[in-house]
Amino acid sequence: MENMELPPRPKLFDFHGVSMTHYFTDNWENIQNFQARPDDILIATYPKAGTTWVSYILDLLYFGQTAPERQTSLPIYERVPFLESDFHILPPGTELADKLSSSPRLIKTHLPVQLVPKSFWEQNCRIVYVARNAKDNAVSYFHFDRMNQADPEPGDWNNFLQRFMDGKMVFGPWYDHVTGWWERKQTHSKLHYLFYEDMVEDTGRELDRLCSFLGLSPSAEEKERVRGGVQFDNMKKNSMANYSTVPIMDFKISPFMRKGKVGDWKNHFTVAQSEQFDEDYKKKMTNATVQFRTVV
Ligand code: A3P
Repeated sequence: MENMELPPRPKLFDFHGVSMTHYFTDNWENIQNFQARPDDILIATYPKAGTTWVSYILDLLYFGQTAPERQTSLPIYERVPFLESDFHILPPGTELADKLSSSPRLIKTHLPVQLVPKSFWEQNCRIVYVARNAKDNAVSYFHFDRMNQADPEPGDWNNFLQRFMDGKMVFGPWYDHVTGWWERKQTHSKLHYLFYEDMVEDTGRELDRLCSFLGLSPSAEEKERVRGGVQFDNMKKNSMANYSTVPIMDFKISPFMRKGKVGDWKNHFTVAQSEQFDEDYKKKMTNATVQFRTVV
C-alpha cells in the first residue's frame, strides 16, 4: 500500500448547483436509484462534523453485542458505507450498502438534503444529522484536505477559509447544508439533528437522546461500554475506526482523529479573519433559526 501510486487531486465542478468532485458523481445514477429500506438509518453530515464518531456509536449500539467481531475485523467505512462515494479503491458506496446483510443498515452521506435519493423519504427512514459550528468545521476540513488525496488541494489557510466562506467546498456551502437539513427536520419527524458541541459537552446525555430517538433501551452497563468505546482517545488508537487503513490519506501530514475539540478554531483564525468570518456569517445566516456554539 505504501508504494501505491496516488491519483491526482480531483477538481471541483458545479453539480446541480453544488460543488462536487467526480468521486461523488461518477456513480450518480445508482445513487439516485438507490433503494432504501424502511429500517435503514441514514447518518447525514457536512464533512468533518463528527460523522465517524456517530457512525461508530450507532454501530456499537446495534451490533456491539450481537456481532462483536464487526468491531475488530471490519473498518468503519465498510460497516457504514459512504453512499455517494466511488473511490475506485473500494466498491462504490451503493454496492457496499446493497451487500450489507446486517439489519438495520447504517448508511453515511454528506449530500445536501435536496440531493438525497428519494427512496429515503419514501421509506420514511430514520435519519441522524450531525452539525458542527462553522469555525471548527472549517479548521477540521482544512487539515483533512491537506492529508486526503481524494479532495482538492486546500492551498494555504487564508485561501481555504475564503473558499469555505464562498461555499466552494466539496458538498457545497456549510451554510446551506446545515440550514437545509434543519428545515427538513420540521417536516420529516424521523430526523434527529444533533450537535458536535453537545456531544463533546456530554456524550452520555446525547447517547440517551439518540437511543430514545432510535427506540433503543440499552442497559446502563451497555451504554457505558458504548460511551467508553467512542471516547476520542479510544477511537484514535482503534485501527478499525481511525481510517489508518485508507491508502489515500497521509497521516504524517495530519491524522484523521486530529484533536476532537470544540474551539480549536482559536488556534487558526487571526482576529481579523474571525471578525470577517463573523460578519459574513451573520449575513448568510440571517434567516436561519439553527444556533451554534463555538465554545463549550
Ligand atoms: P478534528 O479534525 O477537529 O479533530 P468526520 O468523521 O465527520 O470526518 O469528522 C472528523 C472530526 O471529528 C475530526 O475533528 C475528529 O477528530 C473528530 N472526532 C472523531 N471522533 C471523535 C470523538 N470520539 N470525539 C471527538 N471528536 C471526534
